[in-house]
Amino acid sequence: MLLTAENLSKSYHLGKACIEVLRDARLAVDEGESVAIIGASGAGKSTLLHVLGGLDRPDGGNVTVAGNDVYGMSRAQRTRLRATDIGFVFQSYHLMPEMDLLENVVLPAMALPDWLHGAGRARTRALGLLDGVGLAERARHLPMELSGGEQQRAALARALMNEPRLVLADEPTGNLDETTGDVVLDLLLSLTRGEGHALVMVTHNRRVAERCDRVLHLSDGGIHALD
Ligand SMILES: Nc1ncnc2c1ncn2[C@@H]1O[C@H](COP(=O)(O)OP(=O)(O)OP(=O)(O)O)[C@@H](O)[C@H]1O
Ligand SMILES: [Mg+2]
Repeated sequence: MLLTAENLSKSYHLGKACIEVLRDARLAVDEGESVAIIGASGAGKSTLLHVLGGLDRPDGGNVTVAGNDVYGMSRAQRTRLRATDIGFVFQSYHLMPEMDLLENVVLPAMALPDWLHGAGRARTRALGLLDGVGLAERARHLPMELSGGEQQRAALARALMNEPRLVLADEPTGNLDETTGDVVLDLLLSLTRGEGHALVMVTHNRRVAERCDRVLHLSDGGIHALD
């Protein structure tokens, strides 16, 4: 298994109120597999992806990525694992506003140990990825000069930069028209269905979800197979 999650629980506390978001959530994703997660707004899909990606520690349970116990390791080890093995597409993109698209896409490569030796290669790869999402002409533009869907595609290119084994994508086609969404989805699936790779994608779009190998439903804090 490339990704496993067992008995995940997670609650948020706001003053006296406690929101239980995940309760005994389990998931296992094999190499080469793509999994879509659907569920109502507020069901906890983004929270789940953050927990799976080493970004938000669960209250209970554990996550493994490529055999590594994500929350059992030190913070520095987790940061390294995220840089080398996990590509994350945030629901709200999180592009660096002062960097142009090319710089944004290259950024994850700078966290790799041999970055300085491969700076030229990283740039070439970043340009190729921008081309793959239809943004070759916009490489030198700042995020604020782009539409929401263009920023979304740049965020996807950035997530793929280090050839991560696991891609976690939060509604990666949410702001795209059907045709552009299909192009992006083709790229995402072609790069994550290969040996040693996997994709977990949150989406509200059933047509998009059904292109994945499995569709799971997040409700009442748990992950369920669709009947
Ligand atoms: N940092 C936080 N502090 C407090 N509550 C939070 C926090 N993050 C999320 N929540 C709450 O947890 C619940 C799940 O949020 P989450 O963002 O995971 O939902 P979602 O399924 O991704 O929704 P959407 O489809 O609208 O993106 C929501 O009720 C939200 O208000
Ligand atoms: Mg969300």
